[in-house]
Amino acid sequence: MTDKILPSESQSYWRASTDFPVFPKLSEDIETDVVIIGAGLTGITAAYMLSTSGQKVMVVEGSRILEGTTGFTTAKVTAQHGPIYQQLITAFGEVSARLYYEANAGAKNFMEKTAKELGILCDFEKVDAFLYADTEDGVDVIKKEMDAYQKLGIEGATLTKETGLPFIVKESLKLENQGQFHPLKYATGLMKKAIENGVQFYEQSRAKSIHSTNLVEMVEGHEIRAKKILVCSHFPFNDEDGLYFTRMYAERSYAVAALAEANYPKGIYINVEKPTRSIRTTMGIDSKRYLLLGGEGHTTGRFQGDMTTNYETLAAFGREQFKIKQYSYRWSAQDLVTLDQLPYVGVMTSGLPDVLVATGYAKWGMTNSTVAARIMADNVLGKENRFADLYNPIRSKMKKEDIKSLAKFNASVAKELVKGKTEKIDVLFKDLELGKGDIVNLDGKKVGAFKDVTGKVYLVKPVCTHLGCDVVFNAAECSWDCPCHGSRYTFTGEVLEGPAYEPLEKIEYAE
Ligand SMILES: Cc1cc2nc3c(=O)[nH]c(=O)nc-3n(C[C@H](O)[C@H](O)[C@H](O)COP(=O)(O)OP(=O)(O)OC[C@H]3O[C@@H](n4cnc5c(N)ncnc54)[C@H](O)[C@@H]3O)c2cc1C
Ligand code: FES
Repeated sequence: MTDKILPSESQSYWRASTDFPVFPKLSEDIETDVVIIGAGLTGITAAYMLSTSGQKVMVVEGSRILEGTTGFTTAKVTAQHGPIYQQLITAFGEVSARLYYEANAGAKNFMEKTAKELGILCDFEKVDAFLYADTEDGVDVIKKEMDAYQKLGIEGATLTKETGLPFIVKESLKLENQGQFHPLKYATGLMKKAIENGVQFYEQSRAKSIHSTNLVEMVEGHEIRAKKILVCSHFPFNDEDGLYFTRMYAERSYAVAALAEANYPKGIYINVEKPTRSIRTTMGIDSKRYLLLGGEGHTTGRFQGDMTTNYETLAAFGREQFKIKQYSYRWSAQDLVTLDQLPYVGVMTSGLPDVLVATGYAKWGMTNSTVAARIMADNVLGKENRFADLYNPIRSKMKKEDIKSLAKFNASVAKELVKGKTEKIDVLFKDLELGKGDIVNLDGKKVGAFKDVTGKVYLVKPVCTHLGCDVVFNAAECSWDCPCHGSRYTFTGEVLEGPAYEPLEKIEYAE
């Protein structure tokens, strides 16, 4: 238990309030036109878009459907992605920045219209989006972003101090007519339609590798032959040639949700300063309105100290600003950020033209996954897509800034790699408390140890199976997290998320 007002277990509101059908495991070799790997919002949207195309489409999900990042998002549906347009103009020019806006504004409209047309009851609400500042530096960022909106001709934007929040802000940039919804109700609605149209779904069916002959090898031995392979696994699991792990990093964030008594803000909000504060409301299953607060992001595995304090900090913000007394849900998740902030969507590596990837949404994956699904569907159907070049993962030219970020990021990874090998371990195994995990010294050996509340001990070799960095214990989720490229493992060492796909080595504990 982290704090009396917080729930003791992580549980996302979205997952707690959704019923999921159960799908079979893949139990035979299959030939198909299209295989989609990963059933998050990207994979499911692509399946829906292709379901009426006359193609034979199947989806294989490594764990349960929608149990990846989509199940733990905050689900703002907007083209206001933080102060991104100023950055995009500087990095790519006005034409590309405008294209990014059009892609995401179009995706938002598609989602709203599709939910309506299919009768999906996903609590879609039209709301205004606010980017707010409470420092002078922040005001500067907001004003520059407003200039960028004007240059790009983004309509419905105004500077205002009237936000509807119960605290004063120095400035905000309001973008009208954005959205928020229940992401899992929306995604399951699309999935049901895709199934009606003939798409086959399989769960607990993990892809292991992709061969140049368009063959997907599954962990449990079966094979799928497909004309097109869509890698929608969040981190591309087949990253042998693309080296995506050198071009993206994983960033974790935290969320808490609570019944608020009154004065709910009506919009969706995010500040421009650090730490991030992301705010929205949602209608709960009990027909009461919940407040959802997100933030406290950090690179996965690189938070100094106990990660449960991130929940406590968010909870304290809610107590102070919204008079919250008791929280009902808390959860955390991670998303992938590319070096130039633009997602990677399209042909994964030039040697494999039929293998497409969609990743790197930088915590703006509701609309970006829809853009990605359309780019991939158009590729499958041989259609032009005007956003494909912008999102192309094999970017034609790396900019000077990207090369700098790349060098900085990979230098930090090298530092983590060395740190893990040279650091002295002061914590003795015998001093590890019940319910805690840590890298400890056990008879002179460095081991990863977790002692549950009953005293049962789980030991692992704390070395990430991806490229060998030392993992750290994440007390907030009871997991081992890698500070280099964001792989995560359960306390028993099983893979939770990649790029790693092999479990941590287990060590026997002799009492
Ligand atoms: C805390 C947080 C808040 C966010 N808030 C917002 C927001 O307000 N608005 C917004 O636009 N975006 C937001 N995002 C981003 C958005 O949630 C994500 O970008 C999006 O959900 C990613 O969807 P996905 O389908 O690509 O990945 P996922 O949902 O992670 O789906 C990938 C699936 O692939 C499966 N898989 C992995 N490997 C394999 C394999 N080898 N074989 C088979 N299956 C495999 C996984 O199990 C998983 O189910 C947020 C992200 C975070 C972390
Ligand atoms: S994720 Fe790459 S070394 Fe751990």
